[in-house]
Amino acid sequence: MKRFILALTLAGFAAAATPALAQEHDTPHPPRVKWTFSGPFGKFDQAQLQRGFKIYREVCANCHSMSMVAFRNLADAGGPGYSEAQASVVASEYKIKDLDETGQPIERAGRAADYFPSPFANELAAKAANGGTAPPDFSTLAKARTYERGFPWFVFDIFTQYQEQGPDYIAALLQGYVDAPKDFQVPPGGHYNTYFPGHSIAMPPPLQAGQVTFDDGSPQTMDQYAKDIASFMMWAAEPHLVARKRLGFQVMIFLIVFAGLTYFTKKKVWSAVH
Ligand code: HEC
Repeated sequence: MKRFILALTLAGFAAAATPALAQEHDTPHPPRVKWTFSGPFGKFDQAQLQRGFKIYREVCANCHSMSMVAFRNLADAGGPGYSEAQASVVASEYKIKDLDETGQPIERAGRAADYFPSPFANELAAKAANGGTAPPDFSTLAKARTYERGFPWFVFDIFTQYQEQGPDYIAALLQGYVDAPKDFQVPPGGHYNTYFPGHSIAMPPPLQAGQVTFDDGSPQTMDQYAKDIASFMMWAAEPHLVARKRLGFQVMIFLIVFAGLTYFTKKKVWSAVH
């Protein structure tokens, strides 16, 4: 009986693991990148966020909105570390749709409290300009995109606190444009990408080495660009990551001290009972 249950359990695990394995052959797992923000003491690298933001502004913002991030967030603690004045200057470079006091639609310069607007008038215009697929909003993309690691990896990930599937995927995707294999028919408007599920992505390769100038001497390579923009997107998706990790650590310390105190209290209370 015991053996039967064991066999059944194993069969169940195998069944659970099969789809993940099947997918693995089709789409390779993105390589794991060493991020400064991974692990319990992870922090965003300010200079890297600033470089990522530069890439967003100069390249990605031509197609992707970031509607849940406000210009003032650029000056928030734990972020790219701009001053409030700098954030306002960035805002003023964008045109924001608004209404005047008579209710007529107008366009005005952005203010710090505004959100990163879409470069397109609406969803339909965004689709029409991109071969039928609208570029997704950047606000949560780094947390919304993940990939199946499959059994048993997802169990290990709980213990190793691996939470960077999103940025790993984005960094791989940006560098994943290659010529399609001979037996793969890329549909019209599609571009072959190793890491995109199904391989045919509507986004043309958005970046080339040397395209964005860095003032801090960082290499202007695809590898560096991909990591910088992926870090920036992770910040956009989770601006309070640093605070969350710090609090989590403090709670762990508290729980350890508290467990010690409870132990000694128990010893004292029960010391008279033999
Ligand atoms: C010319 C317009 C254009 C530009 C510029 C552009 N993108 Fe895109 N992007 C798209 C479109 C269209 C899609 C939707 C692709 C699809 O679903 O097939 C997309 C999708 C994405 C996705 C989601 C992929 C997925 O798994 O669904 C990511 C991530 C992304 N873009 C990152 C970037 C980054 C980073 C930049 C700047 C370096 C950038 N894009 C610049 C048009 C663009």
